[in-house]
Amino acid sequence: MSGVEPVGGSGGGASGAPSQLQEMLERARGALANAHAPYSRFRIGACVRAASGRLYAGCNVENASFPVTQCAENTAIGAMVAAGDRQIVEVVIVTEGVEPCPPCGRCRQQLTEFAGPDMRIYLCGPEGVRVTATLGELLPMAFGPRTLTRPT
Ligand code: THU
Repeated sequence: MSGVEPVGGSGGGASGAPSQLQEMLERARGALANAHAPYSRFRIGACVRAASGRLYAGCNVENASFPVTQCAENTAIGAMVAAGDRQIVEVVIVTEGVEPCPPCGRCRQQLTEFAGPDMRIYLCGPEGVRVTATLGELLPMAFGPRTLTRPT
């Protein structure tokens, strides 16, 4: 059994969630509505909360040259970095799909640059939180900034 937790109970957990999580969901849903996904038609919204308390939302940005596509998490992280924040404390990812949408491997690696293994990720549908997991559960033994530490 992995540590990934389904969120049960009334309303999928979002209704009883702390207010910031609710706001993150709204921001992620707002970004999803602006997703540029004409090829996959799979819209994703993400919102990261920085240690400063500021929220940064992003959506997927597809490209006619398919590999150039940018993930929603990537867009949100870029906005965070451009605004001067460097530490992620929580992430919301929302899709309209039937299944919860875990971040792709590349996004997990990107999150690792700015978050520790205990950072919580909420996988959401339009109705609210479906599953939560920590970054460490999704990317164990991560190659992170500390891996590059060399003896002085
Ligand atoms: N996508 C994301 O935005 N984030 C992920 O973590 C996984 C995939 C997007 C990329 C593409 O626009 C669409 O989902 C289908 O792969």
